[in-house]
Amino acid sequence: MDDQKPERVRRERYKGTHPKTYKEKYKELQPESYSDDVAKVIQQGRTPAGMHRSICVNEVLEFLSITPGEIGLDATLGYGGHSLEMLKCLIPNGHLYAIDVDAIELPRTKDRLAALGFGEDVLTIKKMNFSGIDQIAAEAGPLNFVLADLGVSSMQIDNPERGFSFKIEGPLDLRLNPKSGYPASTLLKTISQQKLEALFIENADEPYASYIANAIVSQTSKGIVITTTTQFQEIIEGALFFLTKDARKDAIKKSCQRCFQALRIAVNDEFGVLDKFLEKLPSALASGGRVAILSFHSGEDRRVKKSFQFLFREGIYSEIASAPIRPSAEECNSNPRAKSAKLRWAIKA
Ligand SMILES: C[S@@+](CC[C@H](N)C(=O)[O-])C[C@H]1O[C@@H](n2cnc3c(N)ncnc32)[C@H](O)[C@@H]1O
Repeated sequence: MDDQKPERVRRERYKGTHPKTYKEKYKELQPESYSDDVAKVIQQGRTPAGMHRSICVNEVLEFLSITPGEIGLDATLGYGGHSLEMLKCLIPNGHLYAIDVDAIELPRTKDRLAALGFGEDVLTIKKMNFSGIDQIAAEAGPLNFVLADLGVSSMQIDNPERGFSFKIEGPLDLRLNPKSGYPASTLLKTISQQKLEALFIENADEPYASYIANAIVSQTSKGIVITTTTQFQEIIEGALFFLTKDARKDAIKKSCQRCFQALRIAVNDEFGVLDKFLEKLPSALASGGRVAILSFHSGEDRRVKKSFQFLFREGIYSEIASAPIRPSAEECNSNPRAKSAKLRWAIKA
């Protein structure tokens, strides 16, 4: 008989009373075992590590008005919060297709929804880009409703290994699916100053684009590789040396946010795939089918608005939102990540 006890693996200890790094937040990363601690974090207006708080849920559900038996698509599954609420509306005979490009989070969300009772009989989950919405419609038939909640999830932003945030040291990656394509650090190796400046302007309206592009390319042209989020942030900080002390702190933070966003849009071709999705959307919808899109910056919202307006004038959509719906003040207070959200909708003729 083997009476040797298995070796106990100790979790990482943290100094002080409050966990700071992602890995130290082991309670938040196990909401099933520490539900009270997770509830406290949410009450404080923060998003627990490894979790995403869905935005404008009531507004989305009110517009989509899903009824039992309907077939729909969640084009951006993420943590599955919107999917869960949509599933509750379409059971018993309906079906939800849910897709995401994130190969890391997708299996976790699949397991979470299955544990809540939503298995393959009502839910089909696929790892794919929403630019392929036509393939879903070919399999599922005309869709009664579609939701796209654009951008990144909190799990992606908060995980230092994904390199999405300038606030946390990590590899300068920024890919929604780290198993394909190339990281932002590779893009920076070869891009010209002119192209980088254009990228910062087009993808994020960065006012200091020329200074920052110049500072970056003066490093990369010497063969220096910008591999980490902190390195990238420090170069931005250095490029804005001419600002007054009072203006610097805030300006650096905003420029970092915009430049990270610009790189993220570039490495994931976010505008390209959104344009394809918007173009294919009407053919994927059934007559009377509803689509709701949540966007988080002007580049996305402009595309959604223009597409909806054009297709409305063409008679392809019978009705569109005349203005974007914004999250309530309460939601923004309890979840600051909701602040920039805009919800637009359309109904197929
Ligand atoms: C804001 S989160 C969605 C959160 C989700 N609605 C929820 O309630 O948990 C956005 C998600 O969309 C995914 N995503 C972004 N662009 C995508 C694309 N082109 N195709 C498929 N998924 C995409 C991201 O990987 C991320 O998981």
